[in-house]
Amino acid sequence: MKIDYQLKPQSERRSTPFTPEENVGFGVLRTDHMFLMDYENGEWSNARIVPYGAMDMMPGAMCIHYGQSIFEGAKAFQHEDGEIYTYRIDKNAKRLNRSGDIVCIPNLDESIQDQAVHALIDVERLWFPQQEGACFYIRPFIFATEDRLSLGISNKYTFCVMLSPSGAYYANGFNNALRLLISKTYHRAVSGGTGASKAAGNYAASLRATQSAAEHGAAQVLYLDSTNTKLEEVGAMNHFHVRKDGTIVIPEFTDTILKSITSESILALGDVLECEVRQETILLDDFIADIESGEIIEAGGFGTAAVVSPVGSYVFEDGREVIVGDGEVGPHIKRIYTVYTDIQNGLREAPEGWLR
Ligand code: COI
Repeated sequence: MKIDYQLKPQSERRSTPFTPEENVGFGVLRTDHMFLMDYENGEWSNARIVPYGAMDMMPGAMCIHYGQSIFEGAKAFQHEDGEIYTYRIDKNAKRLNRSGDIVCIPNLDESIQDQAVHALIDVERLWFPQQEGACFYIRPFIFATEDRLSLGISNKYTFCVMLSPSGAYYANGFNNALRLLISKTYHRAVSGGTGASKAAGNYAASLRATQSAAEHGAAQVLYLDSTNTKLEEVGAMNHFHVRKDGTIVIPEFTDTILKSITSESILALGDVLECEVRQETILLDDFIADIESGEIIEAGGFGTAAVVSPVGSYVFEDGREVIVGDGEVGPHIKRIYTVYTDIQNGLREAPEGWLR
């Protein structure tokens, strides 16, 4: 693919390494440029890297009205050799297309997505924050741009990749275990719906539930399936728990769960973590009973942005609370986090092809 580079003049671009004094936060900053490509007449074309800025879009663009919009979240890390490495970016490209299949957005060849991300990072390498725990948070996304109000599948789309130079997600260290609301009122997805896609609408649909969590003094929601019997996801992450023997258990991927690339990676890293990692259907009643009996000792969420989020307790809508272990961040979760981020940062060997 030929990319048209329409870069800012040198004088308006970052020309020295980015050395922020404080943690730059997650998702706040942008780099100088973004990658764009258009879909029209049945094909993707016009690959370009342009200054980051407002995009032309008609008020009738279908993404605004009917929500055809999907995105990805990936990361790149700077290693001791000075190079910037994307992490499992091929998985994100596949998942973007899978999301597209679910909301009728045309696929974009994975090798083109791959080239887009690497070309943009190449232009923006000076933006990588020179601070511990930093990354480029990579946000590829596709949205429908046809100006049409009759409901149907859009015939026009834009693919964009933008980069956010980000700091460690937990700026003050990995200290606080979260409280989660077990909601029987709000659900993230139903079977046959769009829950397995990273569609923008799924995130809009989660906001009211998150608001309800806050009203219960909880940081996030533990979503159940629509029959309120099985564990599904936690906020925008996959859920997991650790059993007394160290086994990590992740709910089985169904069409109501977004397959987290962090979960998939942990499932592949059992040997490195020196424990069993498995998936199963997890019934709420069994889960609570196992916490209360001490069979489950730690729990948390896996996702790209935060990597691992420890959970200290679960609260029901009637106020009943169940504490996991001693309610603090446990040793297994600390170890998972360390091993995983060491692999990402090049401090521990990564499986073949994970870092590029
Ligand atoms: C990610 O973990 O990358 C996500 O997409 C979650 C997002 C809501 C920050």
